[in-house]
Amino acid sequence: MRPEPDFIHEFVPGSSKRTLLLLHGTGGNERDLIPLGHDLDPNASLLSPRGQVLENGMPRFFRRLAEGVFDLEDLKKRTHELGDFLIVATRHYKIDIKNLIAVGYSNGANIAASMLLLRPEILAGAILFRAMVPLIPESRPDLASVRVWIGAGSIDPIVPTSEAKQLSELLRGAGADVTIHFFQGGHELTRDDVDVAREWLSTLK
Ligand code: MLT
Repeated sequence: MRPEPDFIHEFVPGSSKRTLLLLHGTGGNERDLIPLGHDLDPNASLLSPRGQVLENGMPRFFRRLAEGVFDLEDLKKRTHELGDFLIVATRHYKIDIKNLIAVGYSNGANIAASMLLLRPEILAGAILFRAMVPLIPESRPDLASVRVWIGAGSIDPIVPTSEAKQLSELLRGAGADVTIHFFQGGHELTRDDVDVAREWLSTLK
């Protein structure tokens, strides 16, 4: 039996208490980030949903009006849908929610950031590769026990460095412990990103 509410997803059981929630970029699917998850933590369980919005046939986690311009009502709705799925999935797969860490790339990083801001009780931490400020929440969430790592590109044409810094300040302002790392490069995920993120992850309990 699969968890309801349902998202098409992969679940790979691991040998530790940690679960990585893998959130793909635009045009990706639930299988894309499985190798990345194993690379970041070979012992963790992996939960990898597929975004339910299609943009010209490409799966995403929420609608956008243009590149970097989000449909905020849809973003809020989709964030809650994903949050509800995660609650059900953690029960279904016996995932320890206190050890649920999101790993998102691009569109997936943006919905992970939105999850931190709108459903702060769900994630214990997040690795955000090339994330933007998804929205400004109406009330400040309590992220006091949450740890976040942001990997930004110094010449990212989609996410200016000022926006990556703004995201880190927004999360810090809510109490999160945020590490931001700038890489020489653009929007693409690099080997350096993965190596530095893995090192950071190994410092979490
Ligand atoms: C987004 O739509 O989330 C961002 O523009 C990144 C992307 O997916 O291209």
